[in-house]
Amino acid sequence: MNYLLAIDQGTTGTTALVIDAKTLKVLDKEKSDYRQIYPKPGWVEHDLNDIWESVSIAVGSVLKRSKIDPKQIGAIGITNQRETTCAYNKKGTPLHHAIVWQDRRTAAYCEEHSAKYMEVCRKKTGLPLDPYFSGTKMRWFLDHVPSVKVAADRKDLCLSTVDTFLVHRLTDGRSYVTEASNASRTMLMNLETFNWDSELLSFFDISREFLPEIRESFTNFGETRNCGILPDGIPILSILGDQQAALFGQACVRVGDIKSTYGTGAFLLLNTGEKLIHSTTGLLTTAAYSFRGHKVYALEGSAYIAGAAVQWLRDNLKSIKSSPEVSELAAQVTDLSQMEHVLFMPFFTGIGTPYWNSHAKAAIVGLTRDTHNGHIARACLEGIALSLNDSVSSFKKDFPQLNDIRVDGGAAANDILMQMQANFSQKTILRPQVIDTTAFGVAVGCLVGRGEVSIEDMGRYWKLEKEFTPEKNPYYGKKKTLWDETIKRLYL
Ligand code: G3P
Repeated sequence: MNYLLAIDQGTTGTTALVIDAKTLKVLDKEKSDYRQIYPKPGWVEHDLNDIWESVSIAVGSVLKRSKIDPKQIGAIGITNQRETTCAYNKKGTPLHHAIVWQDRRTAAYCEEHSAKYMEVCRKKTGLPLDPYFSGTKMRWFLDHVPSVKVAADRKDLCLSTVDTFLVHRLTDGRSYVTEASNASRTMLMNLETFNWDSELLSFFDISREFLPEIRESFTNFGETRNCGILPDGIPILSILGDQQAALFGQACVRVGDIKSTYGTGAFLLLNTGEKLIHSTTGLLTTAAYSFRGHKVYALEGSAYIAGAAVQWLRDNLKSIKSSPEVSELAAQVTDLSQMEHVLFMPFFTGIGTPYWNSHAKAAIVGLTRDTHNGHIARACLEGIALSLNDSVSSFKKDFPQLNDIRVDGGAAANDILMQMQANFSQKTILRPQVIDTTAFGVAVGCLVGRGEVSIEDMGRYWKLEKEFTPEKNPYYGKKKTLWDETIKRLYL
């Protein structure tokens, strides 16, 4: 096996990476963005054909540029945006746009059923009954889309997360499979058994026959066939949801290891080993991966908005031309006393951990006549760090022995944001040299599956690039207090 192909199918684009199978070095990568569809306030959709096209473009371009013979690709690893829910028929024809993880359309359904099912959902799946997860999105398809109902009656319906859709397309419909870290985000998988749970299926009234088979994370999921972008016969050997892939790729394989990934949203995951821990502070419990009979768990703090807040400054306020410019703008603020009252609450799609308020909306508060774009830019970065810090506070209570936080994702390159994260959280932040952590996680997963790399050995691939140590400036404590008070006033 000369090369590995990692496909990272994210919320705004797909990145394909060619990785040397011996050194695990990323040789080349290509990203292809695709359309975001907002049919109504609070609704977010993706066209499955757009997703597939972005995969084709990213894979095609990276192979062409790197001049790699596709026949030299020994294995494929897939990592993907989680919870986003797809409805298609057995031929792979979409029956509706996918409902994206950020979509809030099932909020009323969740509220209506909360009294009866909140506790059973939490206990069995580690998740609160919230529109974020796939179960209620599947229910919405069955209740509202005539073509989905017809396909269900004909027993020609596939309801799945994005990993399954991609494998289905790559294998020309021969494999209809998922794995535990993705399945654990549907709200239909029992966290103790890593199987679909009959009680939950009957609660959401979803028939097991529409769902894929759940496999372990590093195993054979099928081989490419007639997919139009790769030769036949390449095995797909590793799949993980993107946040669990980042946890694995950051070599967070010991109990207490924790990582934070800054993408569209930001997600902190802590490895709790083979122990299933239920949070008392609003964190999620989720599957980290499963391999050779071992079920490994994580606690998770989810902030729906991180990089997306900076994109909002760029696309909606037009205060910056490109996302990295936010740092220059924020750096214009040299006097922190001017910032004490300005807060950017980045809750464009509700609040995740720890408050789980799906109706919350974003707000900028505490403006005075001298407030300028620089203050708003800095407040935006602070808002990202503060909402992540709410998860860090939960982790400190639920799992006091947590290690330093390893960071990755686009916004992890932003030194100002990382220093803020260290200061608000009073935790050391470690940024590794390899930033394609998510893709790396599934690439190395292919080798783990083949017994060529051991999980215990993963640490040797992790190298520090920069460390951010917490500063003791009273500004950060005061700002945290104001943040907490404002959350109570506006959202609880
Ligand atoms: O749970 C949603 C998450 O998987 C999305 O990640 O990187 O596409 O924002 P990202």
